[in-house]
Amino acid sequence: PLVKEAFGLTDLEEQIRSFFGVSQVVIVPGDSDTSAFTRKELGRAGAAVLRKYAANEDVIAVTGGSTMAEVANHLTTSASMKKNLFLPARGGLGESVELQANTIASTMAKKTGGKYRLLHVPDHMGEEAYQSLIQDPQIKEIVDTVRKSRIVVHGIGDAMVMARRRKASAEATQNLQEVGALAEAFGYYFDRQGNVVHRMPTVGLRLEDLQQAEVVIGVGGGKSKGEAIASVLLYGQEDVLVTDEAAAHEIIKRS
Ligand code: G3H
Repeated sequence: PLVKEAFGLTDLEEQIRSFFGVSQVVIVPGDSDTSAFTRKELGRAGAAVLRKYAANEDVIAVTGGSTMAEVANHLTTSASMKKNLFLPARGGLGESVELQANTIASTMAKKTGGKYRLLHVPDHMGEEAYQSLIQDPQIKEIVDTVRKSRIVVHGIGDAMVMARRRKASAEATQNLQEVGALAEAFGYYFDRQGNVVHRMPTVGLRLEDLQQAEVVIGVGGGKSKGEAIASVLLYGQEDVLVTDEAAAHEIIKRS
C-alpha cells in the first residue's frame, strides 16, 4: 500500500473503478511491456485476487496467455482452493501449448491442490467439425460445467497481436481490421466501444455465460494493451480488473 500511495495508484484505481463501474481495480506499479518484474507482479496480484474470491468447491474458468501463465505461477496450495475445479474457458484458439487454457487450468490445479479437466478441441475448426464435436458427450459435459462457472479469470489482448499469435489467415486478419477489432478476450473480439465484432469458432464459455458468473476477473497490463483493456471494460461484464500502471494511464484516457 505504501508503494501505491507514492505512485498515486490508489486514486487511479478508484477513477477506473467508478468510471467503468467495476467492483475492484488493482494496479501494480510499472509497465509489463518493458519490465519482467512488472509482469511477475501482475501475476502475483492476479493470483491474490483469485485467492480472495475463490471459496471451496468453485468451478473456475480460465483462459490462456502469458499473463494467465504468470497468475498460475503465483498460486500456492491453500485449504480454501483445494476443492476447486479449474476448467479451460474455451478450447482450440490456436495458441502454442504453453499458452493454452488447458495448460493454465492444469497448472492452477497443481499449484493449489485443486482439480482440473481438459477440453480437447482442435484449432481452426470448420462448421462441420464443430457441429459434430459439440455432440460428443464428454465435451458436452465439460462445456455444460464451464458455462456454469462461478468465477471466470481471463487475459485481455490487443486484437492484431492476438490474430498474429494465433496465426489467423490474411483474410481473417483483414476482416478483423474491417470490423474495427481492437481487443480480444476468450476468443471474442471487441471494437473500441466494446461491441463484439467477431467470435472464434470453438466450444466453451459464451459471452452470455458471463452474466451468470458471479466474479469475472480480467488480468492484463502494459501500455500497448491499455486501449484493448478499456474496450473490454466497456463491454461491461468485468467485476475485477488487475492491471499495471502504464495500462491504467491509457485506460483512464478513455473516461
Ligand atoms: O486473450 C488474451 C490473451 O490471452 C492475452 O495473452 O497475456 O499473453 O498477452 P497475453
